[in-house]
Amino acid sequence: METDVIKVNNLSKHFGEIKAVNIIDFFVKQGEIFGFLGPNGAGKTTTIRMMTGVLRPTSGSIQIYGKEVWKNQIMIKQILGNVPEEANVYMDLTGFQNLSFIGELYSIPKVERKERALNLLKKFELFERRESLAKKYSKGMKQRLLLCMALMSEPKILFLDEPTSGLDVQSSIIIKNLIKEYNKNGMTIFLTTHNMDVANEMCGRIAIINKGKIIRCDTPDNLRAIEKEYQAINLYLSEEINPSAFSEIEGIKNVSKIKDFYHIIVSNVDQAIAGVINITRERNVKIIKINTPEPSLEEVFINVIQEGER
Ligand SMILES: Nc1ncnc2c1ncn2[C@@H]1O[C@H](COP(=O)(O)OP(=O)(O)OP(=O)(O)O)[C@@H](O)[C@H]1O
Ligand SMILES: [Mg+2]
Repeated sequence: METDVIKVNNLSKHFGEIKAVNIIDFFVKQGEIFGFLGPNGAGKTTTIRMMTGVLRPTSGSIQIYGKEVWKNQIMIKQILGNVPEEANVYMDLTGFQNLSFIGELYSIPKVERKERALNLLKKFELFERRESLAKKYSKGMKQRLLLCMALMSEPKILFLDEPTSGLDVQSSIIIKNLIKEYNKNGMTIFLTTHNMDVANEMCGRIAIINKGKIIRCDTPDNLRAIEKEYQAINLYLSEEINPSAFSEIEGIKNVSKIKDFYHIIVSNVDQAIAGVINITRERNVKIIKINTPEPSLEEVFINVIQEGER
């Protein structure tokens, strides 16, 4: 049975004049990987901080397993694992000691604590380095240790703010695969990213957030269907013309000049090409080459955001 383990309603967070999160609603289902995707400053971290009980919402509600987060801090902390955006490990402790310390905070008995810590270190490929001080770890190793720390309490829901940002391929793959594995075993995952590919690969559903507002929330497949409304034409001409000339094309969404060609985004290529031909004819300019590449999901996402702003 699918149940909504997280319900967010009318949630806002203002910092003075800044509406970092501006009336958002969404839910997360038991056992899904839910992605929060958006550009820098969109409000992702602010949202996740409210969801994990770090920041008090200006207004609105966040319920996890039916309990209001802000009013049930202790209970919430027991069931959540959290890897914040700028978290850090304890530099002067070893990898193993970092995990033991977290285990103590959660009052996990000593034997159990050790067993969990060693198992996590093995899983995350840190076992060999378990006795090194964390300050000697690479960035990717620190990030993996942070994940281990978040997993020590065997949380039901795991919150990850940009889990693979700035990591090399190997660390990213280890982290992505293990997140997927934990999810397969029933853990609900909430992650933020500005990387479309990460969201696409990992998430069952994705909310796209920009300037504090959720502009889309759907499965990667359905988001890709939106992609079909965004078709591209690359147009090479014998002479330069003002890109604004293309604004009269039916269903035009965007036009830009890239190097020696015009990149035109439209909702229907066939219709648009007739318009392109007219425009060039009127100006006595020859078409040298025209092609219609598939735009990436990333490009669609940028266009959806730009449209929202217009
Ligand atoms: N403590 C704060 N005080 C004032 N403004 C803040 C604070 N925290 C966040 N903001 C502002 O709120 C907005 C959203 O920031 P937030 O950190 O949530 O974005 P984000 O989506 O996580 O971005 P990024 O991808 O860069 O991590 C920004 O305009 C930011 O400057
Ligand atoms: Mg952030």
